[in-house]
Amino acid sequence: MERKSIKQEFRNCYEQDRNQVKIPFWITRWETSKEMQDFQGVEDLVRWFEWAAFPKPHYFSEGEISPLVKKSQSYHQKLIDQLSLDINVKEYEVNSVYNAQDYLFQNLYPVPNRMKIHRILDFGAGYGRQANLWTQLKKDIVYVGMDAIELPYCLQHLYYSYLDLPLHEYVIERGNFKIKDKPGIYHLPTWRYDLLPDNFFDLIICVQVLHELNEILLKNMIKSFHRVLRPGGMLYIRDHDLAYTPGNRVDLKEYLPKNGFALEFRPHIVDREELHGIPQIWRKIDRKTIESQKPDKLTLKSLLNKTIETQPKIGKRITDIYYKFKYFKKENNNN
Ligand SMILES: C[S@@+](CC[C@H](N)C(=O)[O-])C[C@H]1O[C@@H](n2cnc3c(N)ncnc32)[C@H](O)[C@@H]1O
Repeated sequence: MERKSIKQEFRNCYEQDRNQVKIPFWITRWETSKEMQDFQGVEDLVRWFEWAAFPKPHYFSEGEISPLVKKSQSYHQKLIDQLSLDINVKEYEVNSVYNAQDYLFQNLYPVPNRMKIHRILDFGAGYGRQANLWTQLKKDIVYVGMDAIELPYCLQHLYYSYLDLPLHEYVIERGNFKIKDKPGIYHLPTWRYDLLPDNFFDLIICVQVLHELNEILLKNMIKSFHRVLRPGGMLYIRDHDLAYTPGNRVDLKEYLPKNGFALEFRPHIVDREELHGIPQIWRKIDRKTIESQKPDKLTLKSLLNKTIETQPKIGKRITDIYYKFKYFKKENNNN
């Protein structure tokens, strides 16, 4: 497809969809970064690279981070060549450091098989960067990018176009577009969140996005994330929490637990100094998990077992008394 035309495809698609279904005004809004909304062309990728190229401190070891940075950079070099951009990839290495950090956090510790990641939704995907390492390191994934803003949407389309997985683009395919359980990259606008399948995703990524949305959209998306995540699936959020709220001041630490999510990981670190944005791993609450961790019922037997465990001497005395009493009762009944 002709590169320039993705902007036209996006605009046409919006107009056509708007004629067919109601697209509420709040769904296509970004409450910040007005200068990053109208797509001018491929050079906007360089603008975004520059915009995001500020230091990204971290505390991973060189051995952990370097191979991933290298991998991410190798794709950026390929992209620069394909798009004939006149820039030096080395100058934007920090963007690859950011990619590597997110990939490491999303894969930080062992999880049961049912939580392994194959189907990913990146919501508010920026220039599409999360697809870089995921598609290079895992060939069998279903990767979905979603956004509503023209400039990032067009950049995502470009960024996804040269990765090794087939790209399915909603704004081009429209009526034929369907997210299938088949490895590939699927790209669609926020106003078609109805096309995200129920109980489907293992991971939803929201980096530096949730507090940049208006409150109606945020709450609507949290509800949708709950619908489309599998039970136990991961919601990965990384942002400045209530320290940066251009769009809404919803306290997610309170809101998410009330809406079906449990917090699994949130390091106690200094934002912007030790890491840019606090990474958090939330899980869609899985009923089976909750059931399995319910406190046991307090019965005489469980109390006795606990006493035997913690205070064996007292436990033994109570057990003796119990059996004496039982024997006495039996004798009495026999007479
Ligand atoms: C600060 S950028 C972060 C980009 C990306 N997550 C990253 O970490 O590089 C915020 C992103 O949220 C997206 N966004 C803003 N309003 C949105 C909306 N209504 N629906 C979906 N995405 C939106 C922007 O287009 C942009 O891609």
